Order: sequence, then structure tokens, then C-alpha cells
Amino acid sequence: MSEEQHKADHRGRPSNDEFRAFIAASWAPRSTDKPAQALAAPYAALRRAAASAAFPGERLVIPAGGLKVRSNDCDYVFRPHSAFAHLTGLGSDREPDAVLVLEPRQDGSHESILYFRPLAGRDTEEFFGDSRYGEFWVGARPGLADIEDELALSARHIDELAEGMGKDVGSTGIRIVRDGDRDLTAALDAVRDGATATGETDEAGQTQTIRDRDDELAHFLSTMRLVKDEWEIAQMRDAIRATATGFDAVIAGLPQALAHGRGERWVEGIFGLHARHQGNGVGYDSICASGDHANTLHWIKNTGDIASGDLLLLDAGVEVDSLFTADVTRTLPVSGRFTEAQRKVYDAVYAAQEAGIAAVKPGAKFSDIHDAAIRVIAEHLHAWGLLPEGVDVETTLDKDNGNYHRRWMVHGTSHHLGLDVHDCALALREEYMGSELKPGMILTVEPGLYFKADDLLVPEELRGIGVRIEDDMLVTVDGCENLSAAMPRTSTDVESWIANSRGLTAMP
Ligand code: GLY
Ligand code: MN
Repeated sequence: MSEEQHKADHRGRPSNDEFRAFIAASWAPRSTDKPAQALAAPYAALRRAAASAAFPGERLVIPAGGLKVRSNDCDYVFRPHSAFAHLTGLGSDREPDAVLVLEPRQDGSHESILYFRPLAGRDTEEFFGDSRYGEFWVGARPGLADIEDELALSARHIDELAEGMGKDVGSTGIRIVRDGDRDLTAALDAVRDGATATGETDEAGQTQTIRDRDDELAHFLSTMRLVKDEWEIAQMRDAIRATATGFDAVIAGLPQALAHGRGERWVEGIFGLHARHQGNGVGYDSICASGDHANTLHWIKNTGDIASGDLLLLDAGVEVDSLFTADVTRTLPVSGRFTEAQRKVYDAVYAAQEAGIAAVKPGAKFSDIHDAAIRVIAEHLHAWGLLPEGVDVETTLDKDNGNYHRRWMVHGTSHHLGLDVHDCALALREEYMGSELKPGMILTVEPGLYFKADDLLVPEELRGIGVRIEDDMLVTVDGCENLSAAMPRTSTDVESWIANSRGLTAMP
């Protein structure tokens, strides 16, 4: 047997026509039920209309991205690019290699076309022989008609994409979301180079490159998500509700986390279980940081033990099937009761968070939230004598000359939240930090204080204590709603939460 034959047999390829006919025959008709994600379609259509209006006469290309190899012949679970998810309503697992194209019409509007890899027929080799895409291996996908019915747009086979994209190059402006699919972007750059975009100028009269024009599209699609529609807000409520279930489960599992050892891994697993069960999974790698690990801001290794006297900082969020994610942090006394030093730090962070939350209202600036919270942090650090001699609160808050407090809280207090945990990341400073809060925005308020175990500037009793409290706020017409309010926040409420979970009465 040649090596090629051996390989073919090993992978179960057909040996003859009889086998092909046998494997293709006698299957029940497929279900015609629409997936639950179809509910997003009318909202996605409105977003495409906004993109269409912003770029009349231009072809807009928004790739979902492709499968990514984890190792050898194993891929990561697929997650579409957020811009693609937003403009199609397609969420978890859908659809690898798909490309949304907004094709310009004469009247300035666009036809939405989804190029994707439709389900292959049962009479094809892909059906049973393709371990990356075949139905036998990874399950069924929709067909062209299914997608047209689900999303109310035109669907074409991915093999027609090259022809569709190359049409009228030179007379049609073409923009692509570059990080959606780097190979497709490179192919499009080769076609566009010299044919389109060159010589065009922006509002300031500067010559724009192809890349500048692509970046404009990505920026538009990112900032479009600053204000959430009603469907997005409902998705966020679901994500946050599921996240609360995960936190409850972690608290209930703390005794086992201690008993089994390697407790941070246990906590990560418990939260992950509930994230997967309630939603699509975690929206970002959970930070399960016990003791001094809490002072490493993005501690996602989660390799540590948990000891009874520790604080456990859990920063975690469930991503629902539509890919919207929560982002909540609670800092929990593992014993059920804060020590005096832990409570002192916790209550300071809580006061800072309250100040930050009070600043969340329409018309306020996004940066007001941080300014309010960090002032309270600075006041506590000053009162505790931690700022250098002669440095008062105003001095440290002076961004040019101070910033001493940043030794103990180096991160910002807030970020937008939605399809990405750090949503709308392409917004410019004036559209983000410098912008006015508007009803429908969803953002976090998450101050912290971090006293590293090896920080010789702080009293010994504070060393190794790290606290962050994080909630997800919806800006309303007259203030804000704390979407994660169901999760206790004050030090005494957190103690009661833990006590109730253990069937104990809270200590007085
Ligand atoms: N929850 C992680 C972060 O906001 O960076
Ligand atoms: Mn956050």
C-alpha cells in the first residue's frame, strides 16, 4: 500500500461508488426551525442601514474570520469578529469564513450579501470526509435559503466571494474590516492597490491610504456600539443574570476549593461550568485571584491555592449566545468574615465605587466617573499616611505633577461593555473619555486598591491585600441603573451572602 493510500484509508475516505451511495442515502429531512439568534435580525438590519448611510456608493466588507488552529489538527472554538456579529446578529460558533458584504446600489443604498460556506449535500465528500467542515465531524450548518430566511438578507456561496469583491474595482470604493480576516485583507489590498482609494483626500485635505479608509470603517462600526439598542440591553441583562448565578456557585463551592487545594483552578472551573451552562461561556478569561494574586491586575493563570484567611478577587463574566458579556468583580473573604485590615481596604474601595456610580448620569463626562472614584481613593491613601510627605490629595490628583496614588490603583475605573468586554475600543479619546454619557450606554465602574505583599511603603497589615469591586451600569434618562445590583456589594452584605450560602446566619 502506498503512503497516500494508507492515509486515505486511515481517514475513512470512500473506497468505491457503492460506499458513497450508501452513506448519502436514507436520511430524514432536516428541521426547518429558525435558530433563536434570528430574533436579533431586525436589529442587525438597522445597524447595516446605518453603515450603509455612512458609506454610500462603497463596497463594505466585514469578515467573520476563520477557524484558528490551536495545535496540529485541532481548532479553537470559533468566535466571529464582533463587528460581524453586530451587523448580522450571528453569535456563538457562526459562521466560520463567512463574509458580510454591503454592496452599493445606484441609489446610494446597499444590498446586504452574506457569503458563507453553506451546508454541503449528503452526496458530497465533505459530508462525511472533511473533519474541519463536514457534517459528520462538526455538525450541520445552514443552507443559503436558511440564512436568507433567518437574517433577511441575500446569501451566496463563499466560492463566489472573489468574483463579487473584484467587481468594478477602480470605480467602486472598497473598505474592509482588516482584522476580521487578514488573508482576505491581503488579497483585497493586492486588488485595490493602485486601483482605488489612492489620491482621495480626507476632510483636512490629507491623502488617504487604503488603510486609512479601512480604519475609518472599523472606527465607525466600533463607535456605533457606544449606545445599545433595546435588544442589546436585554442581552446584557441576561448575561449579568447568568453571571450572578456563577458567583453564587463559586461562593457555595468555596469550602471544596479550600479542601481540594489548587483552589483558584477550582473557582475558575465552577464559574466556567455555569458560564457554559447558562450562556456561551466566559466573556474573557476569569481572574480568580486569591491573596496577593489579586494585586496582579490580569491574573488569569489561576494556578494558586486559596487559604482560609485570604480575600478571593473574582473578576468574571458570562457571555451569552449572542456574545454580549457581563464583567463583574467581587472580592470575597474566604473565611466568611473580613479581617479589620481587609475591611478597611474594602470599605474604602466601596466608597470610591459609590462615588463613581453617583457620577454616572446623562450629560456627565465619561471621565467624571474615574475622577470621582479616584478622588475617594486618594483621600483614603492620604488619610492613611501613604502618600509621600507633603503630598496632599489635590497634589496627587494633579495629572501632571502628582499621580502618586497610581502606585496602588494604576488602572482606569470604567470601560464600555457589550460584545467585547472592552467594547468600542476604536473610539477616539474625545468619543470615549471626553464624551458625554448618553442613555443606553453600558459601562463598568470598578475602582480598586492593590497593596502588593512586597510593597515596603505600606504597613505590614495591608501587604498582600487587593480589592476591586466592579458593577455594570446602564445609563438611563435620569441617572443610571446598576444591572449587577443583585450581587451584594457592601462588606456586611458580602459577609451575609457567604454566610447564607453556608446555611449560617450572618454574624452581627
Ligand atoms: N474585567 C477585566 C477588565 O476589565 O480588564
Ligand atoms: Mn472590567
